[in-house]
Amino acid sequence: MRFDIITVFPELFSGVLDCGILRRARQSSLADIRIVNLRDFARDKHKSVDDRPYGGGEGMVFMPAPIFEAVEYCRGEKGIPECQVVLLTPQGTVWSQNLAAEFSTIPHLILICGRYEGVDQRVIDCLVDREVSIGDFVLTGGEIPAMVVLDSVVRLIPGALGCRESTINESFTTGLLDYPQYTRPAEFRGRVVPEVLLSGDHARIKKWRKEQALEKTKRARPELVTRKLAQN
Ligand SMILES: C[S@@+](CC[C@H](N)C(=O)[O-])C[C@H]1O[C@@H](n2cnc3c(N)ncnc32)[C@H](O)[C@@H]1O
Repeated sequence: MRFDIITVFPELFSGVLDCGILRRARQSSLADIRIVNLRDFARDKHKSVDDRPYGGGEGMVFMPAPIFEAVEYCRGEKGIPECQVVLLTPQGTVWSQNLAAEFSTIPHLILICGRYEGVDQRVIDCLVDREVSIGDFVLTGGEIPAMVVLDSVVRLIPGALGCRESTINESFTTGLLDYPQYTRPAEFRGRVVPEVLLSGDHARIKKWRKEQALEKTKRARPELVTRKLAQN
């Protein structure tokens, strides 16, 4: 799967791309991730990509031309037919595990990271297929949201995680939150691991985990329980 990330701060991505699962997915060619500097598509000697908003008001807005040219460059001459252009914006659809699963089946994603007051509306009208928000709050730029999208999508590409089960039995995929996890030692500062987990009785362990997941979800995210019951 290919990702192009268009940004004015390419340097922000180096740590994220060079560690853990993202690094492995890149090395094994499961994910071809390219960071594209929007300023390479600027038209003046100052490498400007933004300008003042028409109608007045605060801040600066990304001009359309550099973004159009950056996206055309990412698509390439032949292009991958099933390519989606995604704008990270607080005005978009709120990101979720379901969307991550859907995006992990798209062969080519182009992610546009906004800054300042955002991007010229003509970019949204003519170029963008999907607007994605990572939550109801405002960040200074789209780079962290792009990392969130990238990380959550890459780990769902078949082969990216060592164990496929990890993405099946986890929060949201089951419709509930995950059950509590314990590791060694069996006792730590007077707190012991639940006896059932040491019993070796797999049927009991499975039942206990199911009950715990339901309890946790009822406490922390009751609306997920309601939704799951409605689906069944
Ligand atoms: C300061 S924000 C712009 C906010 C915009 N003027 C508004 O009120 O909706 C600058 C950039 O950060 C990114 N951004 C900020 N919050 C975000 C969020 N919750 N989800 C996705 N992107 C976000 C977007 O790319 C946005 O263009």
